[in-house]
Amino acid sequence: MKEEISKIKNESLEEIEKCSNIQDLNECKVRYLGRKGALTVVLRGMGALSPEERPVIGSLVNLVRDELNNAFEQKQKELEKEELLKKIKTENIDVTEPSKKIDLGSLHPITQIIDEVSEIFLGMGYEIADGPEVEKAIYNFDKLNTPPDHPARDIQDTFYITDDILLRSQTSPVQARVMENKKPPIKIICPGAVYRSDSIDSTHSPVFHQVEGLVIDKNISMTDLKGTLEMFAKKCLGKDTKLRFRPHHFPFTEPSAEVDVSCFVCGGKGCRVCKNEGWIELLGCGMVHPNVLKNCVIDPEIYSGFAFGFGVERIAMAKFGIDDMRLLYENDVRFLKQF
Ligand code: DAH
Repeated sequence: MKEEISKIKNESLEEIEKCSNIQDLNECKVRYLGRKGALTVVLRGMGALSPEERPVIGSLVNLVRDELNNAFEQKQKELEKEELLKKIKTENIDVTEPSKKIDLGSLHPITQIIDEVSEIFLGMGYEIADGPEVEKAIYNFDKLNTPPDHPARDIQDTFYITDDILLRSQTSPVQARVMENKKPPIKIICPGAVYRSDSIDSTHSPVFHQVEGLVIDKNISMTDLKGTLEMFAKKCLGKDTKLRFRPHHFPFTEPSAEVDVSCFVCGGKGCRVCKNEGWIELLGCGMVHPNVLKNCVIDPEIYSGFAFGFGVERIAMAKFGIDDMRLLYENDVRFLKQF
């Protein structure tokens, strides 16, 4: 039996030496040390030995098994090293090869304008407010002093979800939400998307963006409104910008005005951007109507305020010289890359 064991040992050591890859080596290991391997079979046959021989053969088998395990381990390390070297040689990396280019995106022009406007108003001490785009009619209209028979409430103009829930047609409902939730002094702007049932053309889109502004405090007057808007226009459109107030009507302000700015491209001489008028219509504004204050539980005998609202697309188009609004929504990278 001793000879048999030493034969197995020698054969196995020879075979280990011959193995040229890890798979061969693993198979070889199974052949000798596995459950049905040569050495295991010897161990099983020990029952037939005499009690004196058993421990002798047993310890010999253990010795050989340890020796073989060592040899396998040694060989495995060798082969792994070889394979790694082979890999390094064949799969070498060319560090000079140009890498795959990952294009860095940029902020959408609408977002850029919203950021810029927000920055200006934050600098004047305003907070940024937010409100839902799916809005209750009561906030979009009623609390803003817009009666049920007002034309803006027509289903022709506004997207209704139910009779009293709609896609907000202006950012003005945020005014009412803020007034209900916060005591004066209030100084907020609210940028956001608004929805109207308009067909798409170069100056209309059923979804567009507005920035709403609201200031409520004691002793707020029209001069505060004018000063604020002038400051904003100069910061946003250039320090030589002039403002022109035209009387207008909005249900939620009294008095109300529309504001034009001197064309910041031609300075007022007339050009393509201002359609030769020298002025560009910028926004709607006014002193918050006492009814609106009352509807939002603010006492109009104590407090007054002003509000304004303007379209972001209009400013983006004028500032960036974009002549078709649709370009802003098509997400064509060739267009967006330019800003
Ligand atoms: N919500 C108006 C619109 O969509 C714009 C506007 C006008 C907002 C006057 C105001 C305001 O806050 O005072 O046409």
